[in-house]
Amino acid sequence: MRVEDRLVEMMNHVADSRVKEAMIYSLMAGGKRIRPNMLYAAAHGYGLQDEDVDAFACALEMIHTYSLIHDDLPAMDNDDLRRGKPTCHKQFDEATAILAGDGLLTYAFETAATCKAEPARVVKAIGVLANMAGPSGMVLGQCLDTEEGETSVDWDALMNIHAHKTGCLLSAALMIPAVLAGCDDSVVEQWHTIGDMIGLAFQIQDDILDVTLTAEEFGKSNSDARNEKVTSVTLLGLAEAEKKMHELYAESAKRIEAFKGFKAEELRELIEETAVRNK
Ligand code: IPE
Ligand code: IPE
Ligand code: MG
Ligand code: MG
Ligand code: MG
Repeated sequence: MRVEDRLVEMMNHVADSRVKEAMIYSLMAGGKRIRPNMLYAAAHGYGLQDEDVDAFACALEMIHTYSLIHDDLPAMDNDDLRRGKPTCHKQFDEATAILAGDGLLTYAFETAATCKAEPARVVKAIGVLANMAGPSGMVLGQCLDTEEGETSVDWDALMNIHAHKTGCLLSAALMIPAVLAGCDDSVVEQWHTIGDMIGLAFQIQDDILDVTLTAEEFGKSNSDARNEKVTSVTLLGLAEAEKKMHELYAESAKRIEAFKGFKAEELRELIEETAVRNK
């Protein structure tokens, strides 16, 4: 897979250390690569080539992997299994896992900065990536997720958590190619909304798989029940959650088809494949 080769190449430039080992361990453990794959598909829809967006595809997967390493820590979801292997803090130790997350987040931006597109567009795309990953984006979602136990969470509140913790990085995958292709802000904002929808669908699906798959099948600890999480399944029940998920995927595909000057096929196919994923 293209992004895997580029990630290996980027990691070769990092100084040897235990933190580098831990970064590579988690990064190369075999994730589905949905975010970089969506980013490539969206780029192709605008006529961009893989090499135009490699830097951002790698950066996004680095940030996603950091978010998983920190999400698994004892202070957060306290999980032992990730991508079919012991979680980073189990394989190494907590300090190394925290640093591996720090390293991946920072190195993601160093990587993004190597993008050879028009500098003004690269700067803007880096801003989008930071905004979607940071304290108004994914980090906010994770913060709200950890506060869940302290407030009563209804469907709207849960959707707000999902849109931030999961939607934002998927939005980044769609917004960045639009920025690099020189689209207007209004178009970039429409991609933001579509990313949120896909993110909601993706996280509802994750909540469903958490209760329908074994940890071995899922490749990660299915810990929502143990952590007494409020999820799409606890609020809606399985059948209703599945219906909601399919509606969201279908609506996002419809909106993607409607974009002018965008070849939708590859991205639409990727969404269709994601909608029937079983891990
Ligand atoms: C897991 O993401 C975290 C969620 C946002 C649900 P993925 O399901 O994309 O995990 P990997 O990258 O394939 O391991
Ligand atoms: C985490 O959501 C989303 C992140 C931003 C990491 P979950 O806690 O449900 O993700 P998994 O199930 O551990 O992959
Ligand atoms: Mg979590
Ligand atoms: Mg988790
Ligand atoms: Mg989950």
